[in-house]
Amino acid sequence: MTEPVLELRNVNKSFGPIDVLHDINLTINAGEVLCLLGDNGAGKSTLIRTLAGVHKPTTGQMFMDGEAVSFDKPKDAADRGIATVHQFGGTFPLMTIGRSFFVGCEPTRKIGPFKVFDRKTANETAVKAVQEFGITRIDDGDRLIGGLSGGERQSLAIARAVHFGARVLILDEPTAALGVKQASHVLRIVLEARKRGIAVIFITHQVTHAMAVGDHFAVLIRGAVAANFMRGEKSREEITDLMAGGEALADLDTAMEDYKDSHDGHPPQPASRATVA
Ligand SMILES: Nc1ncnc2c1ncn2[C@@H]1O[C@H](COP(=O)(O)OP(=O)(O)OP(=O)(O)O)[C@@H](O)[C@H]1O
Ligand SMILES: [Mg+2]
Repeated sequence: MTEPVLELRNVNKSFGPIDVLHDINLTINAGEVLCLLGDNGAGKSTLIRTLAGVHKPTTGQMFMDGEAVSFDKPKDAADRGIATVHQFGGTFPLMTIGRSFFVGCEPTRKIGPFKVFDRKTANETAVKAVQEFGITRIDDGDRLIGGLSGGERQSLAIARAVHFGARVLILDEPTAALGVKQASHVLRIVLEARKRGIAVIFITHQVTHAMAVGDHFAVLIRGAVAANFMRGEKSREEITDLMAGGEALADLDTAMEDYKDSHDGHPPQPASRATVA
C-alpha cells in the first residue's frame, strides 16, 4: 500500500479556551476526492486552515508521505504542494487572466538591462493550462478576470494550482454560489484534477455535489469526525441526516407532526391565492 499523501493523527485545535477541533484522524490519498461535510460552525474551515499552515494544531500531528510535518505559515504548506482555492477563485477582477495566473511568479524577459513581465508567454501558458483542463471557452489571456463567470474563475484557480504542482488541492465551497451548469463545470474540473493523481479535499454543503465527485467522505459535527466512509457505503438520506447532525431533520419531522396534529392530520399546504386573500 502506498503512503497517504496527507495524514492527520489526533489533531486538536483550540483558540484560547475554545476547543474547535477534537481528535481529528483522517487520511487523504493521491487521486482521491475527500468530501468534507458538516453544518455551519462544524469546524471545516478551521480544519483546512490547519492543513494549509494558517493555524498550528494545538496537539496532534500531521504527516505528508509518511513524514511528520509542521507548518509555521501558509507558505510552508504551499511549498509542500498544499494549495487552497477559496470561494470566488480568490482572484482580482481587474487583472488579466495571464497576469493573475502568474501572480507572485511572473515570467520575465530581458530588454536591455531591464526585466519585463513577459505578457505573451504568460498568456500562452495560462490559456494552454486552462484549455488542457477542458475549459476551452478561455482562449484569450488578455481578458479580465472580472469578465469570467464564477465557474470559470473557480476552474481557472484550480488549473493554476495544478499547473504549479499542487499535490493536495483544498477547495472551500467551490460550488456554493454557482448555478447548476457552472457547478457541474467545476465538478468536472475536480474530477480532472483527481485523474491527474491529485488529492482533492472538497468542502461543500450540497450533498448532490459531494456524491457526484466524492470517493471518501468525512462528516464533522462540533469539531469531531462523526462519520468517515467510502463512496457507496451510505445513502443520500443518511448523508443529509448526518450533515444536519441528525437533529435538525428530526426537529423538522417533529414540527411537521405537530402541525398535522393541530390541523386534523393535514400536512402544511403551500399558501394559495385563495387562502392568502
Ligand atoms: N479564531 C477563532 N477564535 C475563536 N473561535 C473560532 C476561531 N475560528 C473559528 N472559531 C470557531 O470555531 C467553530 C468552527 O468554525 P469554522 O469556521 O471552522 O466552521 P465551518 O465548518 O467552516 O462553518 P461554515 O460552514 O459556516 O463555513 C465556530 O464555532 C467558530 O466560531
Ligand atoms: Mg467555513
